[in-house]
Amino acid sequence: MPKDTLTVTDNRTGEVYELPISHGTIRAMDLRQIKVGPDDFGMMSYDPAYKNTASTTSRITFIDGDKGVLRYRGYPIEQLAERSSFLETAYLLISGELPDADTLDDFTHDITHHTMVHENIRELIDAFRYDAHPMGTLVSTVAALSTFYPEAKDLADPEVRRLQVTRLIAKMPTIAAYAYRHRRGLHYVRPDNDLSYAGNFLNMLFKMTEVKYRPDPAVEKALDVLFILHADHEQNCSTSAMRGVGSSQADPYSALSAACAALYGPLHGGANEAVIRMLEEIGTPKAIGDFMRRVKEGDVRLMGFGHRVYRNYDPRAKVIKQLAHDVFDAVGRNPLIDIALELEKIALEDDYFVSRKLFPNVDFYSGLIYQAMGLPMDIFPVLFAIGRTPGWLAQWEELLSDPEQKIHRPRQVYLGADARDYVPLDARR
Ligand code: SDX
Repeated sequence: MPKDTLTVTDNRTGEVYELPISHGTIRAMDLRQIKVGPDDFGMMSYDPAYKNTASTTSRITFIDGDKGVLRYRGYPIEQLAERSSFLETAYLLISGELPDADTLDDFTHDITHHTMVHENIRELIDAFRYDAHPMGTLVSTVAALSTFYPEAKDLADPEVRRLQVTRLIAKMPTIAAYAYRHRRGLHYVRPDNDLSYAGNFLNMLFKMTEVKYRPDPAVEKALDVLFILHADHEQNCSTSAMRGVGSSQADPYSALSAACAALYGPLHGGANEAVIRMLEEIGTPKAIGDFMRRVKEGDVRLMGFGHRVYRNYDPRAKVIKQLAHDVFDAVGRNPLIDIALELEKIALEDDYFVSRKLFPNVDFYSGLIYQAMGLPMDIFPVLFAIGRTPGWLAQWEELLSDPEQKIHRPRQVYLGADARDYVPLDARR
């Protein structure tokens, strides 16, 4: 009967070690016994960007990158996108189970009645330059929320944690909408408790002089599905930032602000904005050939393509691609879709992309929908952040309740200068 162990021989000493294997992994700490002498610190693993390192166990999201599978708490993303709602999915991610009707009503009521922000938050957003990027405003304003709720530092109290989770899910759309209205020089629109989560967000974004904003049902539904598709994605860069900051016992507002900052990067949540800029730069399907040549020369990246985990079509991209057509039927077709579809067709047949297993990811089509909804490009990553907030918070809660977790503090391989004595200024060349 094969044993769940790894036998390694250190050829420097001839010593043989047997390391236990659990869930297909060995514990990096089990390497420390491998030494060449009593003064040796012991062996470590070296894994820049953590390409092959599990930082935690988790029960929240499962991804099979080779098969293009994504499940939240065991439920396939395709079924949740088709049959759930964003708030129901948020509850599922955080609690681990789908809510019954009464529980969902209570959760929805709580979120709905925490959408307002303190007037000082409105004044803070007002203080940004008129052309401040909404992600910069979001990162700063979420961090500022920590100064309004000092009790949030009491992480040991589950009721305190639950209230901050409710506040953050509820207030992210309000902050996002205020940042957008500030950019446009428009008055801020207060939340409307009669509307759904997505409907109220559209209300705060687009309400003008009408007495009551009525969201387009197709757009409202599409936005709710987009939030579901972005809700979690295991240990991605921004979730790792949330967990890293959370591991020091910082409050959830400070941790989520760090997650937003990580998402801001063009390689992560900023990609949906970068995709539109790329499609506009290409301009016409006839220019795709030249652009692809530049990609293969390493001059530019095909934004919205490729993924650290998916070596197959991102299942979210499939749903979004279909959703795009539903939205275009409601609000008009985004002409850039023609370039995107032709780019995808060419890339999926080109060995450069096929050999590198580069497929469309969640960001390739999402920006086309947001743009068709009339949203400016620089708010796209903010929409990603709204959707990802329940996932970040679910991962944060899981971190805090994991007995194996401590403050994150990776080691390093030091390749710098050896010990040397200080050289006085007048003795330096
Ligand atoms: C998200 O982690 C998550 O789960 C993230 C996310 C989530 O939900 O949280 O899914 C959301 O961030 C999606 C990804 C959005 N980013 C983009 O679309 C930006 C474009 N994509 C890439 O920059 C890239 O694919 C990454 C960043 C997504 C993944 O990078 P990796 O895993 O570090 O891969 P790599 O950079 O090592 O690339 C491997 C090879 C390289 O070629 P060689 O050096 O071997 O010749 O593939 C090439 C890369 O040059 N490559 C690309 C490419 N992505 C990788 N070449 C052209 N275009 C691309 N998009």
